[in-house]
Amino acid sequence: MKEELEKFKQQVESFEIKQNEQVEIFRLKFLSKKGELNELFEQFKTVPVEMKKEMGALLNQVKQKAQQKWEEAQSQFESNSSKDKDSKIDLSLSSEATFDGSRHPLSIVENEVIEIFKKLGFVYAEGPEIEDDWHNFSALNFPANHPARDMQDTFFISADIALRTHTSSVQVRLMEKQTVPIRAIMPGRVYRNEAISARANCFFHQIEGIYIDEKVSFADLKQTLYYFIQELFGQDVQVRFRPSYFPFTEPSAEMDISCLLCKGKGCNVCKQTGWLEILGCGMIDPNVLQASGIDPEKYSGFAFGMGIERIAMLKYEVKDLRTYFNNDVRFLNQFSAE
Ligand code: DAH
Repeated sequence: MKEELEKFKQQVESFEIKQNEQVEIFRLKFLSKKGELNELFEQFKTVPVEMKKEMGALLNQVKQKAQQKWEEAQSQFESNSSKDKDSKIDLSLSSEATFDGSRHPLSIVENEVIEIFKKLGFVYAEGPEIEDDWHNFSALNFPANHPARDMQDTFFISADIALRTHTSSVQVRLMEKQTVPIRAIMPGRVYRNEAISARANCFFHQIEGIYIDEKVSFADLKQTLYYFIQELFGQDVQVRFRPSYFPFTEPSAEMDISCLLCKGKGCNVCKQTGWLEILGCGMIDPNVLQASGIDPEKYSGFAFGMGIERIAMLKYEVKDLRTYFNNDVRFLNQFSAE
């Protein structure tokens, strides 16, 4: 037995553990239930009593030796492998840039406009995109069969129901529902039966505004819109009002701003006029107030409507309306996420 213990001891000592896998091989060979050490313990049972003390001590010694060698190897490879893992992470590298999306330019402009009007006490309102004739036309003083209806090519769903051609329909809904004074800003998508080109689309976006109270005048309209334009485009921008026609306003006007690119000197964008058309506006026609149950003898109001695409085109110098809607990330990535 003594010889076998010596042999075991030598084998344990000479076993080289160079790789992680050898740690387990070592354990199986020497320390496991079916390993050699266990065999020695089995043999120990047959050792004569007078030898037990000496052999027992030796057996324990070799056992400890094997155990120790295995534990040391284990901890060595464990720390090595975690060092390996660490070495793959270079904490000094800059992180990979992730693109967290951006806001659509039309949303950016829409939000800006709404924020400006909120400062003036205008509240946000919305209405349906599928609209009836009353709210889109009749209540807005478009008489039946009147040529004014042809001003806007309409997608009809039935004789009475259509995709709204303008956000002015929301004015009517609001006037019917709310009590005066009313001050509201109403953005939304509108639809017109147009051939799609760089300058026209079958749908686009508008922002409508109304202000109704006692003694609201054209001076209020002018000052409100002037303030709005200066907030949106800066203090240097000039405005001018040109007489126009809309069935729902009287008098009606179109507002121009001095060209943002050439500052009024004349360029391609403003077609050498120095001015850019920006919105339609006017004093709400008494017929319109009346149709929605507001007394035109007591109250007056102004209204305005503008195209969001057009403002965004001027602001970001977008040349083709279609770029807003073809979802090209090279275009969209240029805008901020705020
Ligand atoms: N609804 C008109 C359009 O789509 C724009 C407009 C003009 C709205 C004058 C108004 C307004 O509220 O007063 O062209």
